[in-house]
Amino acid sequence: MPPLLGVNIDHVATVRQARRTDEPDPTWAAVEAQLGGADGITFHLREDRRHILDRDAKILKEMVSVNLNMEMAIDSDIVAIAVDLRPGQCTLVPEKREELTTEGGLDVIRHKTRVASAVSALREAGIKVSAFIEPIEEQIRASADIGFQAVELWTGAWAHATSEQDQQAALTTLREAIEVGRSAGVDVLGGHGLTYRNIGPVAALPGFTEFNIGHSIVARAIFVGMRQAVREMKDLIIRYAPD
Ligand code: PXP
Repeated sequence: MPPLLGVNIDHVATVRQARRTDEPDPTWAAVEAQLGGADGITFHLREDRRHILDRDAKILKEMVSVNLNMEMAIDSDIVAIAVDLRPGQCTLVPEKREELTTEGGLDVIRHKTRVASAVSALREAGIKVSAFIEPIEEQIRASADIGFQAVELWTGAWAHATSEQDQQAALTTLREAIEVGRSAGVDVLGGHGLTYRNIGPVAALPGFTEFNIGHSIVARAIFVGMRQAVREMKDLIIRYAPD
């Protein structure tokens, strides 16, 4: 089966919050993304509420019929909101107030105690839990040991590589990390910096179950509409996926 596509709609909320108004509504974007074939809708409820608001999370939970994936920091207030909301999935990510977007992966080894307590609270609520981590063997194995059912590998090294050599190295790292994840018994997803231009070689790697893509899809949606932008990305993933 080709990898699934989770569409991150945060940037629709970013445009709305630029004017603190009520348009464009990210929940409309979720509907359009589903009509375009999205297999999941992803949103990040940040502690500073810079884009997605609590109100959006509640409406998304009511109206999204595909997998709803909430990205979140390991913060007790946010964990409590997630336990109450019960999305299908939560992805634990590092969060810094000064960053433009999530930078790199969560260090699950360094923050093991806090991470483990968030994972157990979320799993007790029946939520599937994924760790957004860098493609490093120790991080993947530690995630599986802590109880994560999935890891989302940071694809930034691939996305930011400019030389052929760096690109090949990033692909090799991802390929090996996928194998580690599969042998550790977790689902292996990918995300960060994936675009219409760079998705091909990543989608062609065997073993990814899903990609979470935000900025590039929302950017294209401004010109062609969300439904079509999602459909085009889905088509690319299917076209490049291994047989
Ligand atoms: N996956 C995770 C865990 C993220 O934090 C983000 C960014 O919000 C994405 C995927 C999507 O990244 P991009 O917007 O670069 O496609």
